[in-house]
Amino acid sequence: MEKHHLILIGFMGTGKSTVGRMLAERLGWPWVDTDTEVERQAGRSIPELFAEGGEVRFREWEKRILWKVTEGETKVITTGGGIVLDPANTNRIATSGWTVALDATEEELIRRLVSDQSRPLLEGNARRRVRELKRERQGVYDFADFYLDTTGLTPAASVERIIKSW
Ligand code: S3P
Repeated sequence: MEKHHLILIGFMGTGKSTVGRMLAERLGWPWVDTDTEVERQAGRSIPELFAEGGEVRFREWEKRILWKVTEGETKVITTGGGIVLDPANTNRIATSGWTVALDATEEELIRRLVSDQSRPLLEGNARRRVRELKRERQGVYDFADFYLDTTGLTPAASVERIIKSW
């Protein structure tokens, strides 16, 4: 398989979808978001999938979708924050395109995510969950070709830096 997509990875709330959509517009490429595709093809929302089959069920869908979207025409692909927890997914991503890891400080992520209702993994005390998950996932995005801390950057500025990076 040819390595040709532009793939955004990173923790929840780092701006992958916003930046990915803008990158795709700028490049004139299609944009596909794995979470959106999971919801479309499963015919259920992510919270519904988690409620029905737990995280395991969601991860099965996520993996299937990753395989599909990395086939075929060149595109911008944005991913769910936990997609890299499976080493097979990480390998698939690394061999499918130029991979950009977006990040932000813990404070910034908490600010962006604290009132979020759409992410089952943040249920309960979102502030605490962000801290825990950020710690648990330390290093999992490090395989990226380019790393960008979006704290204090507008999405447009992030787009420019990514384009310059490759
Ligand atoms: C998840 C991140 C979410 C979504 C799901 C699980 C995670 O995507 O895939 O709620 O495990 O980090 P975003 O990173 O787009 O929020």
